[in-house]
Amino acid sequence: MKNHLTVVDHPLVQHKLTLMREKGTSTAVFRQLLREISQLLAYEVTRELPMTTRKVETPLQEMDAPVLAGRKLALVSILRAGNGLLDGMLELIPSARVGFVGLYRDEETLKPVQYYFKVPTELNDRLVIAVDPMLATGNSSAAAIDLLKEAGATDIRFLCLLAAPEGVARMKEAHPDVPIVTAALDERLNEKGYIVPGLGDAGDRMFGTK
Ligand code: URA
Repeated sequence: MKNHLTVVDHPLVQHKLTLMREKGTSTAVFRQLLREISQLLAYEVTRELPMTTRKVETPLQEMDAPVLAGRKLALVSILRAGNGLLDGMLELIPSARVGFVGLYRDEETLKPVQYYFKVPTELNDRLVIAVDPMLATGNSSAAAIDLLKEAGATDIRFLCLLAAPEGVARMKEAHPDVPIVTAALDERLNEKGYIVPGLGDAGDRMFGTK
């Protein structure tokens, strides 16, 4: 991907995102919209996958038809909210391998600490798409990418639903080689680290935990 940041301004994405932002949207509808939007975002983040051709016979004649070149893909969910994006993407790319990164924030140091890490083998040979709906401070996202690089990943993309300018700047500083795809770039973070105007806590809204 050429740009460090791609905002997917497709009307369907923007419409669904607006419905998700509304505080009255139920958990069930929020989850459904996230599933739909994740497929539209997956379409954008995989736009430049390498292609080859295969001979097929249509009812009329033989032709060389385009197919994916078989580039191995790994989707990595940053727990827990990443799972909301993961489900829809797997429907579109069912053969992708899946990894999980779990990080929590240490209350004293405020630094992200790893509590779970399980990723597919041969990460160096795969296009790795890390998914987390909210790119807020960027600290946990940057730490997750650090872990993926330590595990061998060299070609990584980061997919989110909403990004704050602070998070984009943090990622650009830490991982300028990792393109970000998002549905919107919001105004700012508030004092509690929430994206404004945002949509609230993505995990709570998709899992109904608040
Ligand atoms: N995580 C969320 O779920 N929401 C925000 O606004 C910021 C981080």
